[in-house]
Amino acid sequence: MKRRISWMHGVAAGAFVLAMACGTQKQTTATTDKALAQSFDKEFVDAGAQYKVLAKDLPADKFPKTYFPTTGKHEYSNSGWWCSGFYPGTLLYIYEQTKDQALYTEAMRILEPLKKEQYNKSTHDLGFMMFCSFGTANRLQPKPEYKEILINSAKSLCTRFDPKVGCIKSWDSKKPEFLVIIDNMMNLELLFWATQVTGDSSYYKIAVTHANTTIKNHFRPDYSSYHVINYNPETGAVQQKRTAQGFADESAWARGQAWGLYGFTVMYRATKDKKYLDQANHIANYYLTHPNLPADKVPYWDFNAPDIPNAKRDASAAAITAAALLELQGYVDAGKAKVYTDAATTMLRSLSSAAYKAPAGTNGGFIIEHCVGHLPAKSEVDVPLTYADYYYVEAMKRYKDLSK
Ligand code: GLY
Repeated sequence: MKRRISWMHGVAAGAFVLAMACGTQKQTTATTDKALAQSFDKEFVDAGAQYKVLAKDLPADKFPKTYFPTTGKHEYSNSGWWCSGFYPGTLLYIYEQTKDQALYTEAMRILEPLKKEQYNKSTHDLGFMMFCSFGTANRLQPKPEYKEILINSAKSLCTRFDPKVGCIKSWDSKKPEFLVIIDNMMNLELLFWATQVTGDSSYYKIAVTHANTTIKNHFRPDYSSYHVINYNPETGAVQQKRTAQGFADESAWARGQAWGLYGFTVMYRATKDKKYLDQANHIANYYLTHPNLPADKVPYWDFNAPDIPNAKRDASAAAITAAALLELQGYVDAGKAKVYTDAATTMLRSLSSAAYKAPAGTNGGFIIEHCVGHLPAKSEVDVPLTYADYYYVEAMKRYKDLSK
């Protein structure tokens, strides 16, 4: 981790620092629905009330995962589960909008048992776990301790990078295989942040190499993505392209498409390399023009689910996609910006409607209903999920920011 930022061309490095410092949007081209944006003030208040319900029964040192409406039971996790950063991250986003101190206090409480994950080298999910939580906390109130935790997290994540494969390993395996999932694109933002604050370009370089390998191997000609690529750990050659959470190896798992879209949008923000913008635009085009995308723009859990139109929807994919499109619209021409902003408007309107937003006090305190975690494993089907809430509140914040 010793190489400095000097390997980047001066202009590119300048653009990188500027791009990261500016956060998400140019805020020039979007036409948002101002009334919808205003209604989000109340949505944030409602979300805060829900998260107090969620917090009430949360056992100490446990993290909310989901809730089963049929049994009325929560499922919690420990801090090592990939979703542990979403609860504090969501609390902080809602606090930012409502200034409700109780939410900030709860976020600070739950960050304590999460801290130790900075040294976790057994997962690729450190971006989700640490950047959505400590990254957000540090944005709101920078602290040297947060910075140290985030840099250690980035270092831990980099231990999973293999230059032969050109990727960060997603899942450990006892077999001779090196498994990478499209979701892993979401962990790269942490690495860009680490280069920005340390001046050490190693993190940046790993992120770029991982993204380039992903472009090469994870996408089909129509820009839909495979969920899992199995690489030969000795040679880096692709051994298999398959799914884990989707309907079939050749299907388009909805959340995977959303992770790719969000990930390549961040890649463009951080590097200003047009190939990442092109990739994000292609993914958006696949998603938004798909004949199986319903009118409310909340996708079925897999674009190729065999029982469409009776297949379950995945509201989490819609929330992630809305957040991504609201950033991507700031990087494209006015025509595309309108398409993306209009689509995100529809997604957010749908998620905020009674069709997906839980009535007050229900849903175990989660905000959004009707998500799918892992349908082939019959796990988390038609339930709330922490990341649906996180990306929903992030998308609402982005929408509000664009509407100012
Ligand atoms: N990263 C796992 C998922 O999206 O379900």
